[in-house]
Amino acid sequence: MPSNTHPKIAVIGLGYVGLPLAIALARHFPVTGFDINVERIAELKDGVDRTREIEASVLKETTLKPTANAAELLQHDIYIVTVPTPVTEENLPDLNPLRKASETLGKYLSKNTIVVFESTVYPGVTEDFCGPILEQASGLKAGRDFYLGYSPERINPGDKKHTIDRITKVVSGQTPEVAELLKQVYGSINDGNVFVAANIKTAEAAKVIENAQRDINIAFINEIATIVGKLGLSIFDVLDAANTKWNFLQFQPGLVGGHCIGVDPYYLAHCARKLDHEPEVILAGRRTNEGMGSFIVASIHDNLQKIGVKNNARILILGLTFKEDIPDLRNTKVVDVISGLKKLGHSVDIHDPMADPKEAVEHLNLELLNNLQGVGDYDCVVGAVAHRSYLDFKGTDFQKLLRPKALVADIKNIWKKIEFPAEISYWTL
Ligand SMILES: NC(=O)c1ccc[n+]([C@@H]2O[C@H](COP(=O)([O-])OP(=O)(O)OC[C@H]3O[C@@H](n4cnc5c(N)ncnc54)[C@H](O)[C@@H]3O)[C@@H](O)[C@H]2O)c1
Repeated sequence: MPSNTHPKIAVIGLGYVGLPLAIALARHFPVTGFDINVERIAELKDGVDRTREIEASVLKETTLKPTANAAELLQHDIYIVTVPTPVTEENLPDLNPLRKASETLGKYLSKNTIVVFESTVYPGVTEDFCGPILEQASGLKAGRDFYLGYSPERINPGDKKHTIDRITKVVSGQTPEVAELLKQVYGSINDGNVFVAANIKTAEAAKVIENAQRDINIAFINEIATIVGKLGLSIFDVLDAANTKWNFLQFQPGLVGGHCIGVDPYYLAHCARKLDHEPEVILAGRRTNEGMGSFIVASIHDNLQKIGVKNNARILILGLTFKEDIPDLRNTKVVDVISGLKKLGHSVDIHDPMADPKEAVEHLNLELLNNLQGVGDYDCVVGAVAHRSYLDFKGTDFQKLLRPKALVADIKNIWKKIEFPAEISYWTL
């Protein structure tokens, strides 16, 4: 393994996770960033990060070398893989990006290198899936000629508080020496705030349960939202009261999209089934959260009926991304609300100041309004994503958008304090 205390590092996959990591490491080490997306590499070289995680000025100053040329992966000491780990249509782990990245990397691997995986996986993927692919492509032996490591990633895109330099990093290695070297390398970007896990499978398990735990807790709150909704109560009012207890856990109800919380529990469930264990709690959480879109659609439809708008309501959806203040549209569950409302015969316009309109058409087949100027006469405005720009909405903004008798459906409970005119109905979870 590299004895080098100043290793040359290559990061494979420069997305939401890989780019901030590569930039942070490049402040201390020589770093190459490889991505198969040629357009992404050209943009980064031009100082543009479409994920909006890294400012243009930082991209201009960094010593990171972005490349789409795999041959530039030669002669590095540490490789860090940060490619996607999505699920298939059947909600099974799709390990193809990891397979392809490992095949490519294997061709350029040399002796005494370390390959660290950061992609979220279930326990065993690093050593039992990626390791053998690397061995086959390189002709080298893991644990003897090169070494594996796993370090789960915890960054939270759009979150400027828990940035990569401020959160505890978990590392693990095939040998204690590898783990120690990784501790030093990662510690250089967060003042040594590194936890060494017992082994690689433990570190893999830690990451996937962090997200499964969130999913299950949100599912519980979502289930309660549907129950208290039937009682004519708002879950947010109930939570305001319950949260005053010292040990009540704080989770918010809503749509659970994106490529982490809504995906990782399926990785864990798959692992459980491989071990002949039926993951009841994990999948119950998933089912509940997957069902939130239909529940929200039914609630909006009912509330429209109550104000006398029976069919073909004109509805404006505010927010399409999977969460607030990021441009990421992958696996957004707002689409469940949109398609559900359309199926009931309503017409839907969509606005999102963060999303890329081209991407919305290409990936979701949804057209976005350019802006909210000049649009109006809606029967209903749905607050689907709590983007910063929507938080400042005032009663007059709604008057411009809505017909005199209309509905505000506030899924995120962001407009609770607004005093709407009597003719405007307000519904929240
Ligand atoms: N985004 C998050 O909030 C987050 C947080 C923690 C962990 N993770 C995990 O980190 C991993 C990466 O997620 P992300 O959000 O950065 O994904 P992403 O889609 O933003 O980025 C992945 C990048 O990898 C590139 N890529 C795909 N296949 C490649 C290959 N064979 N070789 C080189 N590059 C390749 C893609 O072009 C893309 O730019 C996933 O496993 C995810 O679950 C994500």
